[in-house]
Amino acid sequence: MRIVLLFGLLSIALAGCQEPTSDAVAEPDGAQLYAQHCAACHGDNGAGGVGVPLNLAAFQYGVSDEFLKLTIQHGRPGRVMPAFSELGEAEVDALVEHLRSWAPGKPVIPANGHIDGNPQRGKALYAQHCASCHGSQGEGGEGTGVTFSRPRDLPIIAPALNNDGFLAAATDQLIKAAVVNGREGTPMTSFREQGLSDTQINDIVSYVRSFENQPDPNPVGNPDDEPLTIAYDSPYSVEETVKALERAAVGRNFRIIRTQTLEDGLFPEPEQNPNQVIVYFCNFDLVNRALAIDPRVGLFLPCRVTVVEQEDGVKVMSINPKRLAYLFNNAELNRLCDEMVKTYSNIIEEATF
Ligand code: HEC
Ligand code: HEC
Repeated sequence: MRIVLLFGLLSIALAGCQEPTSDAVAEPDGAQLYAQHCAACHGDNGAGGVGVPLNLAAFQYGVSDEFLKLTIQHGRPGRVMPAFSELGEAEVDALVEHLRSWAPGKPVIPANGHIDGNPQRGKALYAQHCASCHGSQGEGGEGTGVTFSRPRDLPIIAPALNNDGFLAAATDQLIKAAVVNGREGTPMTSFREQGLSDTQINDIVSYVRSFENQPDPNPVGNPDDEPLTIAYDSPYSVEETVKALERAAVGRNFRIIRTQTLEDGLFPEPEQNPNQVIVYFCNFDLVNRALAIDPRVGLFLPCRVTVVEQEDGVKVMSINPKRLAYLFNNAELNRLCDEMVKTYSNIIEEATF
């Protein structure tokens, strides 16, 4: 029941990002599609927000229509930007046309063509010139979250370059154009102006391209593979299990908030079933880190464990935050939820050992 309710809340929270378009009309309206699917993250006029700005001339001139189309279709797995695979060709074209209306003029990217640099030399140059913003493995800047995690003085996050979605959309020439010209109005500067030679830039492009051969850093997990709850059997009575849980939680720097029966508030105390208990406990460090990545996770953080006596013994259960975290397409959040599940499992295992 609770999970169903949470799904409901989440779909409301995520509406606008995920909702499929209404009946396909003859002429898809790009502005309307943008308002429906993109504005929440990229801003009403493409000025940026959770997502990078899309209305800057330097960006628009540096990317092809094909890049925009493929980016919309593939998204950026694990980097918040969803894949809009449910949109048809005509809708994606209408979206691209709408994005283009912000910076009239022709993009200036050389025709497609493979760039034959030396990735070994490129690796060293990348470490020197790019890693500080784009991450040592091309994983992108930290702070993919909605609000707090991104430093205020860095409103535009450095995109992940080792991302399958990015690499599928970007040609060698497009990557080179970004490095040669930079993106005026963002922290991405022109490396030609910084003094890098054409050969050096080609080497860097080949290195970035070589990320393709590495294992996918953010494999798209299937939420259905994740159980909704973490559940354990306890060999003890409900009362003993609750005591043991409280001890184990405190031992791992969790604070016990309260312990109550499941029916607390529904019935007067003497009528409440004492063999259905919820222990609320919290580790503020974990919670704050998760909220910093995305405040919406507040809707489904576990923070409580339920102990119930059933016919076949005492069960201890907690919501599995990984299941719902998948909806956010945020690798940082997935990693933290993974850590959270391990911590919760350790506490429950210790208490039921
Ligand atoms: C000071 C931080 C910083 C440094 C250093 C930096 N970048 Fe960037 N880079 C950014 C930001 C921010 C963006 C996003 C710009 C935008 O919104 O259009 C970006 C965009 C890009 C893009 C386009 C990505 C996309 O999704 O369209 C590429 C490619 C790129 N950078 C490669 C590099 C390479 C290669 C280097 C080193 C030679 C480098 N960058 C150095 C911050 C940086
Ligand atoms: C849930 C938030 C979210 C939504 C919704 C979203 N985006 Fe994004 N988008 C992002 C983020 C975040 C990035 C940067 C990815 C990174 O940091 O690696 C991005 C990147 C992009 C890029 C690449 C920009 C560049 O510099 O290369 C394009 C193009 C883009 N989005 C277009 C769209 C369009 C069009 C829509 C609607 C159909 C859309 N996005 C919906 C969050 C979002």
